Amino acid sequence: MGKKTVLTGITTTGIPHIGNYLGAIKPAIDASCNPEYNSYFFLADYHALIKCQDPQRVAESTRAIAATWLALGLDTDKATFYRQTDIPEIPELTWILTCQTSKGLMNRAHAYKAAVDANREAGNDDLDDGVTMGLFNYPVLMAADILMFNADIIPVGKDQIQHIEMARDIAGRFNHQFGSLLTLPEAQVDEETQLIPGLDGRKMSKSYDNTLPLFSSSDELYRLIKQIKTDSREPGEPKDPDSSTLFQLYRCFATEAETAQMRRAFENGIAWGDAKKQLFEYLDATLSAPRQRYHELMDDLGYVESILHKGAEKARAQAAPLLSQVRIAVGIRPLTYVAPSTTDAVQKKEKSAEVLERAEAGRKRAILLQLQPLLDQVAAAEDPSAAARTLIADRIAELESLKKKARQKAENELELLQQALAEWL
Ligand code: TRP
Repeated sequence: MGKKTVLTGITTTGIPHIGNYLGAIKPAIDASCNPEYNSYFFLADYHALIKCQDPQRVAESTRAIAATWLALGLDTDKATFYRQTDIPEIPELTWILTCQTSKGLMNRAHAYKAAVDANREAGNDDLDDGVTMGLFNYPVLMAADILMFNADIIPVGKDQIQHIEMARDIAGRFNHQFGSLLTLPEAQVDEETQLIPGLDGRKMSKSYDNTLPLFSSSDELYRLIKQIKTDSREPGEPKDPDSSTLFQLYRCFATEAETAQMRRAFENGIAWGDAKKQLFEYLDATLSAPRQRYHELMDDLGYVESILHKGAEKARAQAAPLLSQVRIAVGIRPLTYVAPSTTDAVQKKEKSAEVLERAEAGRKRAILLQLQPLLDQVAAAEDPSAAARTLIADRIAELESLKKKARQKAENELELLQQALAEWL
């Protein structure tokens, strides 16, 4: 077995905070040190344009995120670290995949549905009000990010799982149509790191305005830590570490022994002020070296730019050959192109039985996703069994009238419907 490829993107709309560090950056950098993986990390600046129309903010965030990852010790000889917009193959693949993606699949994307729901709730007649094509197509761009590098594992937050599923569906459909060129990716969600609390105890997130910026100055860090919500327990009163944001944050950085010691201090009634001071001192000590490095890098952006260029070269060396294959597969070919002999093709097929099987599973899921509204209707019917039978009977009757190609498709759908509705039939 070859190495697995891990890939993740960071949208360049914000300044990294401690939640990002613990939830995404640190695990990614750790994984990149593991020789069992190839890792690809990139600044998703095309994605930033979907969410943010403030050029200064996009540009500043891109600098800050690049400098942060480097300051935290990402080894760019091991990992491939690049900026999405330096890879022209990605938008090209996006278009090719766009042509393979059904609109119905995109209608179901959470980000788009949330916008539609918000319009509906606001009583707006135009349900697509404020929805750009960028937002609508966002899952296809994300699929291209992933499929461009044949990535296997995609570490993401929970809110992104659907996008990875869509990337699988899109890849499955492509492979079915044009031959197995694309790897079906899998999402990897680390439940524990999803729970980093912010100043008010809710999940640390820019949208709650409760973050601790990763590289704020010592003074600022202390000022923010002092704002962390505590209860009214007096010094000397035992405190519950497990419900304390201070303790949870401390634990994310400290060793096991230090954590056990802090737990005892809580049980022995440490004053909130002292607990805050200890958390501050710990974080400040841990972050001071990377913070200094961060500021050096932010003062030497030409260097950071050169690192990104090197990363882009490495990334393109992977992307370009795959894109050439994709272009050939879909029929974008030099006029003089001659297909390789079929024996090669047969060998290739035999080699990838497992890949084909996965593609087939992806294809089935893509079809079922399209059929989901029908399945929902049956499940919601007063008599689901009767509804299921009628549906299948109608479909069988329809088959007769169809031409060969449409008929093949309808037969495939029918088979999947019969499987999915088996309990009612
Ligand atoms: N959309 C992701 C987010 O908002 C960022 C992202 C873009 C991404 N492309 C990706 C993550 C590809 C993983 C793989 O978090």
